[in-house]
Parts: sequence; structure tokens; C-alpha cells
Amino acid sequence: MPDVVIDGVAFELAKNAMSKAYVPYSKFKVGVAIETVNGQYYSGCNVENAAYPEGTCAEAGAIAAMILDGESQIKNIYVMGSGSKLVTPCGGCRQKIREFASQDTLIHVCSDSEVRQSFSLEALLPHSFGPENLAE
Ligand code: THU
Repeated sequence: MPDVVIDGVAFELAKNAMSKAYVPYSKFKVGVAIETVNGQYYSGCNVENAAYPEGTCAEAGAIAAMILDGESQIKNIYVMGSGSKLVTPCGGCRQKIREFASQDTLIHVCSDSEVRQSFSLEALLPHSFGPENLAE
């Protein structure tokens, strides 16, 4: 993994998004910020509801905001959560990120004070299925 330069703007966006999470059931707040290849930023938080499986992850919110604004290529994505364990994207979110990622995309796993570890998508979702599979 190359040296990772941390983007303070994205970090603060993720932190602010995390503070807005609606998590009355799990009490587990997650905030995400995306920086696109064009230098645009989008953020999202998890939003739960009483029908538990219908809640949405923070990644989904940030990706939806990105697409709504006409952007679609993720350069960096910051995933922020609390606790002693790394808050890596869930399996479903790895696939959602995959749709808009490239070989260079980095996934930065953060606490609210630092980037704890950075991963390539390949490391988190090896041998993945993607749009190319449907293009043949
Ligand atoms: N969560 C996310 O928002 N992103 C992830 O990648 C992991 C899990 C949320 C979903 C739920 O609201 C809470 O964390 C506990 O699972």
C-alpha cells in the first residue's frame, strides 16, 4: 500500500455525518465521506428504522448523494465508526463501492480521531463481480 495522504475535508465530512446518524436501535453510528476523481465530496450516515432490515448504511447514503450530483468515480472513501474493532464496510457496501471504484480507489477505515487503516477494494472484495461481467 502506498503512503496515504489523508484528506482533512473528507475526514471532517465523515465525522459530521457520523454525528447525524439515526441509530435508535443499534446505537452504532457510522459516517462516510467520498472524494471523487473530480475532487467533489459527498457524505452519508446510517439511517435505521423499526423494520430493522430496512435500515440503510452510511455508504449507501453517500453513494446516493454522489450519483444524484452526477458523479460516479470514487477516488477515496472514508468510513468512520467507533469501538476497538475496525469499522470496515459491510459485505453489501463493499459491492456498492465496487460499482463506482477503480484499481486506485482507497477505503480508509477511521475512528473519529484518525485513519486507522487503508485498504484497496481488491483487498476487501477479491475476485469481485462487476459491470464488466455484464458487458461481454
Ligand atoms: N453500518 C453502516 O452504516 N455501514 C457499514 O458498513 C457497517 C454497518 C450500520 C448499519 C447499522 O445501522 C449499524 O451500522 C449496525 O450494523
